Amino acid sequence: MLTINVYGDKILKQKAKKVLKVDQRTLQLIRDMLETMKESDGVGLAANQVGSRDSIIIADLSHVEGYEKSKPIVAINPEILSGEGKSTYEEGCLSLPGIRLNIERSEKIKLRFQDTDLNFHEENFDGLFGRVLQHEIDHLNGILLTDRISAEEKKNIEEDLDKILNREVELNYQISEL
Ligand code: NI
Repeated sequence: MLTINVYGDKILKQKAKKVLKVDQRTLQLIRDMLETMKESDGVGLAANQVGSRDSIIIADLSHVEGYEKSKPIVAINPEILSGEGKSTYEEGCLSLPGIRLNIERSEKIKLRFQDTDLNFHEENFDGLFGRVLQHEIDHLNGILLTDRISAEEKKNIEEDLDKILNREVELNYQISEL
């Protein structure tokens, strides 16, 4: 299992780099990401959360009620082509342990991404899947949930953020952290 970077770690503020070739190292990274996400009971993970600048995200909702039949997705160089509608939902993040925030996002998205053979795909996602993917793509752009809330909301969680910064939190992961 890889170490998950948390709030304060610089790589979480850095933009990912486009993946131009998929080699053994890339495939190993993806396998390790899937394992790490599973072990942490997460539903999604971006490569910079585990220390890589590669533009790779993964999501797996198969352990979430109502999504049991969904397949895990590995998206390389993902890009949101369009978004439709708005919805607000309480999100968590493996990099922000213990914090949950209401975040407004598109209800539906059209996503372009590449698979591990670098073939292009365009797919529509909605519901929790669409939300998780938007959250993970934010990570690739160096954006955290704390960048999507008002100054006032941020003030309310200042103590919790300080605890993470000072590494005073226990990394107790719960289901549904993105
Ligand atoms: Ni996250």
